[in-house]
Amino acid sequence: MSEASSNNANKSMDDIMALCKRRGFIYQASEIYGGINGFWDYGPLGAQLKKNLRDAWWQDVVMNPCVGRPGPDGEPVEIVPVDTCIIQNPKVWEASGHVGGFNDPMIDCRESKARYRADHVRAISGKGKRNEAPIFAFLTDTPSETKQRKAAAKKFGNEIEEFDLLELGTDFANVLGPDADTLGTLTEPRAFNLMFKTFVGATSAQTDENAAYLRPETAQGIFINFKNVVDTTRVSVPFGIAQTGKAFRNEVTPRNFTFRSREFEQMEIEFFCHADDAKTWFTFWRDWRYQWWQEIGLAGDNLILRNHDSDELAHYAKEGEGTSDIEYRFPFTAPGFGELEGIAHRGNFDLTQHEEHSKKKMQYFDTTRGELAPNGQPKGEWYTPHCIEPSAGLDRGVLAIICEAYTPDESRASKVYMKFHPRVAPIKAAVFPLVNKDGMPEKAAELHQELVKKFGHLGAIETDAKQSIGKRYARMDEAGCPICFTIDGDTLTDGTITVRDRDTAEQKRIPMAQASAYLAEVLGM
Ligand code: GAP
Repeated sequence: MSEASSNNANKSMDDIMALCKRRGFIYQASEIYGGINGFWDYGPLGAQLKKNLRDAWWQDVVMNPCVGRPGPDGEPVEIVPVDTCIIQNPKVWEASGHVGGFNDPMIDCRESKARYRADHVRAISGKGKRNEAPIFAFLTDTPSETKQRKAAAKKFGNEIEEFDLLELGTDFANVLGPDADTLGTLTEPRAFNLMFKTFVGATSAQTDENAAYLRPETAQGIFINFKNVVDTTRVSVPFGIAQTGKAFRNEVTPRNFTFRSREFEQMEIEFFCHADDAKTWFTFWRDWRYQWWQEIGLAGDNLILRNHDSDELAHYAKEGEGTSDIEYRFPFTAPGFGELEGIAHRGNFDLTQHEEHSKKKMQYFDTTRGELAPNGQPKGEWYTPHCIEPSAGLDRGVLAIICEAYTPDESRASKVYMKFHPRVAPIKAAVFPLVNKDGMPEKAAELHQELVKKFGHLGAIETDAKQSIGKRYARMDEAGCPICFTIDGDTLTDGTITVRDRDTAEQKRIPMAQASAYLAEVLGM
């Protein structure tokens, strides 16, 4: 890995976003109408990049679980897919705790109209003067932090103390809000439900009876179908159910490009096992998921595995039994990290909740457990399986891969190239006639067709005859295309072509007949 690509603190998010727009990776949603905060559209290159990442996950999780690595029990890992609805019976979200618990207490500012997550707001007072004005509130790593620190230093010098705003209780009369000019404009913290509400049916009445929610996670579609899957397939615990799909959260502060959006896609596995085996499976999944992200191109020190502190546990996570995040150092979090995937031991919280609320039995009969019968066979045991959940964000994965791939290089015409892992690269190869005459376009079309037939299911095979060859290489560098094949005058006489490598920009000649095999090797096939 090059120095430039490993050091994300030196990469400019503005430059990365500009490249995403310029080359058709990601656009602002509804851009021609001024956009809509927290929503993003993927352009041609972005859509293919996203598909390639989703396909890689599907292949390695569903089709060939853990790429053939056996589970901790020495057996092949078993995973089946589902594809469930975005809108479900609202009782699903009562049972899952989202209606009651998916609330971040928020603080509004009456002056600036900004809204803040209460647990994100920090405060500075004079030492021992927490009950006196002024108290300066700010959000870490935002302009409000610089502004308020300066103001606090002017007022109190070094005699300050810093704390979470919520330590004051709920009376903020003495507090200067992060974006306010007058004291006491912050409201008390209020619950704010992050689920998008809609109304089902043709009736114009929008009442609680026909209200429904867009799912805030794909996981619940899996839990509510646990019994269906057990009863209609040949799976047996331990096994997993996986799905990818859209999730929606009315995030209070969508920000950092696609990192925190209001519409995003998840790739989730719910892996069901006996409670006694949950710790072992947790470790297995945590380690393998971390390795997977490394193998897909996040191999440097920008990726870390972090075990949660007990005060960060989600409402479903088992205390003391593990929740870990795979985190990536994005340019906007550097030197810190942002979550890419969470691996949680959810206990049997979800199945138990759905059993209680639906009154349908969610227990599993395990014929391999229980006391031994006189014939020496186990009598079987009923239990509610525990669940290990590796839950990844597809859009965050794409964003991490874009940030990692972004490699400034002043020596190139493009000044930057995208060093995508060949498996996720949206364009797998390009075929160029050096000039658009003398039989070269025909030869290029021939090779292009051959490569499309063999590799087109994996991504685009580009061909382009316009502009200078240098400009075409530059376009491919920005698109992150690993290999360019060029047909020139010699091709017509000796059958060789030029191969240009994206990462080294080096060129060499190979017989055109070997182009397919060459590309297969680059793609690790
Ligand atoms: N079922 C568990 C669950 O949904 P989560 O940590 O809330 O857990 C899982 O979400 C993953 O979904 C996160 O690690 C992140 O990658 C992605 N994610 C969550 N909220 C997101 C948002 N607002 N925008 C983009 N991705 C998000």
